[in-house]
Amino acid sequence: MVSLRETGIDPHCWYGVARSTELGDRPLPVELWGRAIVIYRQKDGAIAAMDDCCPHRFVKLSDGVVVDGAIECPYHGWQFNGDGGYKTIPYLGPNQRLPNCRIPTYPVQEQDGFIWLYPVANADPATLPPPMPIPEWDHLNYIASVATVDCPGHFSFLIENLMDMYHGHLHDDYQAWANPRLENLVTEGGNVTAEYAAESYYRIDKIWSVIQLFMPSTRKLHPEPLHVSYRYPHWHSTLGKEFVIYCLFCPVGPQRTKAYLIHFTSLQAFWRLHKLPVPFRRWVKNRLFNAAKGMLEGLVRQDVRAIAQEQQAYLDNPSRRGPEYNPALSAVQRLIRERAASASMDAKSAGERGIAEKSITSTAVAQEIVMEQQMDMQ
Ligand code: FES
Ligand SMILES: [Fe+2]
Repeated sequence: MVSLRETGIDPHCWYGVARSTELGDRPLPVELWGRAIVIYRQKDGAIAAMDDCCPHRFVKLSDGVVVDGAIECPYHGWQFNGDGGYKTIPYLGPNQRLPNCRIPTYPVQEQDGFIWLYPVANADPATLPPPMPIPEWDHLNYIASVATVDCPGHFSFLIENLMDMYHGHLHDDYQAWANPRLENLVTEGGNVTAEYAAESYYRIDKIWSVIQLFMPSTRKLHPEPLHVSYRYPHWHSTLGKEFVIYCLFCPVGPQRTKAYLIHFTSLQAFWRLHKLPVPFRRWVKNRLFNAAKGMLEGLVRQDVRAIAQEQQAYLDNPSRRGPEYNPALSAVQRLIRERAASASMDAKSAGERGIAEKSITSTAVAQEIVMEQQMDMQ
């Protein structure tokens, strides 16, 4: 039986592989579930994504450069277009022709400040749904902060951490909420939503309230609902009306997960601010960008430390399991298994190339789900 802690991803989703600001003039390597991919910006500004492997001698294209909208391999200077086809081989003889094979490419797009990749090789972007929207990113009433999570653990450990609000105990000074009590758990449409009654340390209702992000002594507990949702493969949360948080997942491999934590502080309470000229409001939004970054990074450090220990404990003794009292976690685990199983079956029937072929076998996961369901029914 395949362990949850080694379960593969469902590739039929958009993954947040980088921030738009991370991609400059040079190619950028990204890794998603063991597959090395290079992204670069073409002449028209659109991004291209393809396997990070030159078809000549298999060196990394991401060590090369972008020349006139094409990616150039660092070794012999062969160039490739954004569709993965050959553009030029500099020393091609008059009687030699460019090969007509292509490097596998991936749908990729920019939305809400992030670069989203759909890891099914050569999939037609026109047939795909859009990535998860982040409407607060451009909204003038929300102040964003972003922290990168680099976590030495399987993605299931990270999503369980984010869905289990009882772990506020870990966060001490960085804690935004207290006294959570799970009141409702909904699994629907491929999402798991946990609704907690909780208390928040923050109240953003005066212009100087933002100082609470920096000075713990200015915070006071008051009741607020705390909702967290696993919108596979990503996470969304609200704490009262003040905070909205997203976590964009990029599972690098079975033992490493990259993610972006995006925190928004709402300015909705300041009705006077909404009447001010748009350029001023944009200035405020930009000026306060990353105001909560220190708090976010503190939280991430503490979470990553705990998750690294969970992963190591799993590697040391894969069959050991501790007791669990939060039903949100079994709902999350079930969703992870279901998505991996359906991805594996889809890939087999479609003969897809890409991440899916690295997913665990469908029969193993399907067997596991059947056994779980049987146990649930007993
Ligand atoms: S290895 Fe890439 S051009 Fe030779
Ligand atoms: Fe946490």
